Order: sequence, then structure tokens, then C-alpha cells
Amino acid sequence: MDERFAANRANWDDRAGLHATDTTGSYRIGKVLAGGSSLHALEASEIGDLAGRDVVHLQCHIGLDTLSLKHLGARSVTGLDFSPNAIAAARGFAARAGTEARFVEADVYDAAEALGGRYDLVFVTWGAITWLDDIFRWARVVASLLRPGGRLYLLEGHPQMNQLELRDGHLELEFDWRTPRDAPLVWDVAETYTGDARRLTATRCYEWLHPLSDIVNAIIRAGLSIDFLNEHEIVVWKAFADLVPAGDNQFALPPGRPRIPMSFSIGATRRT
Ligand SMILES: C[S@@+](CC[C@H](N)C(=O)[O-])C[C@H]1O[C@@H](n2cnc3c(N)ncnc32)[C@H](O)[C@@H]1O
Repeated sequence: MDERFAANRANWDDRAGLHATDTTGSYRIGKVLAGGSSLHALEASEIGDLAGRDVVHLQCHIGLDTLSLKHLGARSVTGLDFSPNAIAAARGFAARAGTEARFVEADVYDAAEALGGRYDLVFVTWGAITWLDDIFRWARVVASLLRPGGRLYLLEGHPQMNQLELRDGHLELEFDWRTPRDAPLVWDVAETYTGDARRLTATRCYEWLHPLSDIVNAIIRAGLSIDFLNEHEIVVWKAFADLVPAGDNQFALPPGRPRIPMSFSIGATRRT
């Protein structure tokens, strides 16, 4: 097994355990178990009509958004993630919520074989694609999961934001805009992003930054047509320590700092 894949899976397994017992409120567990939704206002306003749609949620983590999509009216929901702990937690939440959902453990690159079906909506949000080394391969997987007329909804941290680090109160350009496949960014971090004080043990993980043009071109080259590309001033994790709350578990740059796009969203359709 690829060393980077193994490290990332161990890291996410570790995080899944903490997030499934989240006490920071980041994951809105109680709300979802009560039949509500963990989606933020942003994605809820952009995903479009779910009624009668079969939805697959790639890199679904502990499945709370997957269950939310069902609560919001999807006909069926399927979540896929490569972390056994995340999938086990997702199945546990589905049982506790009494929500019908299918959860599959697999590498996202193997999604077509692992899922064996086609969908009306592929849903991918907040912190998914930087864990993947090949955005063009990912887009081909997405296209293969869609029926004709099916849509992709992608919402992610902005590549421009991802290039920056906060140093001595200033945002500094720290990372290249394009991470080579064979030279990923390497992190050793003992805390997860929710603010949970409990420590991770599998601290090593690897990430890849993808230029926005690569993401858009990957989607087009995979055969989808772009319906919208939006850029937003909020993100849903504390990407920099001095971000300020922007309501609904979202964060924005502090007043006085020049605005940059903090996230972006793409809607795309498989026409044939
Ligand atoms: C930040 S979380 C995504 C959060 C998600 N938007 C949600 O609904 O909570 C990233 C997820 O990607 C998963 N992941 C990372 N690499 C993967 C891969 N190659 N195949 C499948 N899942 C992967 C991790 O296990 C983790 O659950």
C-alpha cells in the first residue's frame, strides 16, 4: 500500500474517533440525530432540489452531511469514505437517527467499482480534494458515478487561501499553488481542526494543493459542463488563528484585512 495513502487513512481514522464524540459543536451531531441538517447555509443554498434524487456523498467522513441530505429530501443517500472508523461512526449515527443510508468503505478512486451504481448528485464538500494526488482522476470518477443529467456539487477551501499561513499577525505566501504528485505537503499535527483538546496519535498526513484551473479543467475534461463557479469570503474551519466567526459555524477574515476568496463552489452537469 502507498505510504501516503496509509498515513492519511490512519490520520483520518484517528480524527473520526474524535469527531464522532465531538463536544465542540462543530459537527452538529445532536441536530442530525434529531432529524435536522448539518449543512451550512452556503451549501444548503447552492445544492439545488434534492427531491427524488439519488445522492452519493464522496469522502463522507462520519456521515452527518450524508444523513442531512436524506433529511433534506433526497430519495436515497450513499456515503463513501476510506476510513473504517468514519464508516462505522456513520452507520452508528444512521441507526441512532433512524435514517436510511448506505455507507461504503473504499478509496474514492475505486468508487465506481465499490458503489456499482449511478447517481443524480455527487456531493463533495469542505476538505476533500486536497487529500487526493490526482484531481483529473478524481473528476473522471465523479463523471462515472453520474447518470445523464446528473450533477456534481463541489464546495472547498479556496486554493488561494490554502497557499497562505499566518505568521506574526500577517498572512504570508507559504506554499506553491500546485503541489507535485510525488512531493506532497507533509504535516505532523497532533490536534484536529475542531478545537478538541484531545490529541491525535496518527499525526502524519499528506496533502496536495490543486490550482482552480486544474479543478475546472478536470471537470470539463471528464465530460461535465460547468453550471456555476462561485467564490466566497467564508470557510468552515479556522484556517488561520485570527479568523472571526461569521455565523452558522463559518469563519471570515478579521475586519481591516484585504478580502481574498476563502472557499469556492462548482456546480456541473453530465449532459449525456
Ligand atoms: C475533512 S473530511 C470531509 C468532511 C466531509 N465534508 C463531511 O461531510 O464531514 C475528509 C474525508 O476524506 C476522507 N478521505 C481522504 N482521502 C480519501 C480517499 N483517498 N478515499 C476516500 N476517502 C478519503 C477522510 O477519511 C475524511 O473522512
